[in-house]
Amino acid sequence: MRVQIAIVGSGPAGLLLGQLLHRAGIAAVVIEQRSKDHVLARIRAGILEQISQDLLDAAGVGERMHREGLVHHGIELAFGGRRHRLDLYRLTGGRAVRVYGQTELTRDLMEAREAAGLPSVYQAAEVRVHDFDGERPRVTFRRDGQRHEVRCDFIAGCDGYHGVCRASVPAGALRIYERVYPFGWLGVLADTPPVSDELVYSNHERGFALCSMRSPTRSRHYLQCSLDDRAERWSDAAFWDELRRRLDAETAQALVTGASIEKSMVPLRSFVAEPMRFGCLFLAGDAAHIVPPTGAKGLNLAASDVRYLSRAFIEYYRDHSAAGIADYSAKCLRRVWKAERFSWHMTSLLHRFPDQGEFGHKIQEAELDYLVHSQAAAASLAENYVGLPFED
Ligand code: FAD
Ligand code: DHB
Repeated sequence: MRVQIAIVGSGPAGLLLGQLLHRAGIAAVVIEQRSKDHVLARIRAGILEQISQDLLDAAGVGERMHREGLVHHGIELAFGGRRHRLDLYRLTGGRAVRVYGQTELTRDLMEAREAAGLPSVYQAAEVRVHDFDGERPRVTFRRDGQRHEVRCDFIAGCDGYHGVCRASVPAGALRIYERVYPFGWLGVLADTPPVSDELVYSNHERGFALCSMRSPTRSRHYLQCSLDDRAERWSDAAFWDELRRRLDAETAQALVTGASIEKSMVPLRSFVAEPMRFGCLFLAGDAAHIVPPTGAKGLNLAASDVRYLSRAFIEYYRDHSAAGIADYSAKCLRRVWKAERFSWHMTSLLHRFPDQGEFGHKIQEAELDYLVHSQAAAASLAENYVGLPFED
């Protein structure tokens, strides 16, 4: 097979890129190691910045998001036994976020890809990328016992943190920046109504908790947990009890419990690999960087990379200019590092750290108090939470 772009990975980054390229008349194939059902069963992010929503519209797949997604004009910070609302809309001059699950967004993109009859390969084994430092890159894989080869102009490595693309770059060509946090998040999805109309981020002496949602009848909650914890060890009753303990009285009272639909644990990590391009191989999304989920930035950052990458490829084929390709890594990384900073900051502000001591705790309290009483501090958090504007 011969295409212009070989996209490795059918997560949000790969699928969104595929759709934007298709709209521009650029031929791409998506190669994914898992099955479609496996990809759709993963419960991950839930908050879309305006730029991510705009990209879904540009890709022609925003219709259901507009119909079913919930627009949120604020978030709540719970600490010291009380809830404090941050009015994102007012603080940012009219911007908001939308609650729309990554699963739904992935489904919309997959369906649009299928409806357009675009080539995708699922359950591709032994995916390998070759010759990307020259002008004839290739991707090979096995499927149904046969070996396949895709020849292309460029490879888009959208294969997530554990993917093959970043791992194929010679180690000396990469600079890695990393911070591993001494805790994880335990997430539970349940068909119970959310505790509030908006998300509640709670700083509590027993550890961080987050009350989120997927719809007016489906809630998504998270608890800070220790790294050696396991989702299977938590009964539903134990999860709800612990969540209730970490909330202020008003929120705890509004908590409706029920059987969980899904329970999973994720370790928290900050990670950036620089640069994001090696010859004809471009990394996008989690393949290049990871943020701890506290700032709700992971999925949005993947979308932001894809915006730059799709523009670079369109410029290359339509205008015969390689300027976007040359600038890709530097442009992405400026945004990536700001999201890394914000995600690290939200994580530091809201979690209990084993070594933080009384001093660290007092500093958190002071900062939270500052945030809800200072227009300038609140505006800074709000601007980052709804998503920084593009600078190009
Ligand atoms: P991915 O979604 O990881 O997609 C990569 C795709 O590549 C996958 O389908 C994978 O199967 C495929 N792949 C991997 N290796 C290969 C290979 N060798 N060959 C072919 N295909 C391959 N963000 C938030 O904002 N909030 C959250 O609550 C949140 N929770 C998360 C929970 C978990 C468990 C994880 C892992 C991430 C979470 N994130 C969260 C982050 C967010 O989901 C990611 O930032 C987002 O999925 C990035 O999209 P992506 O397309 O870059 O990568
Ligand atoms: C969700 C996840 C996040 O990490 C976050 O900050 C907000 C919401 C969610 O899954 O709903």
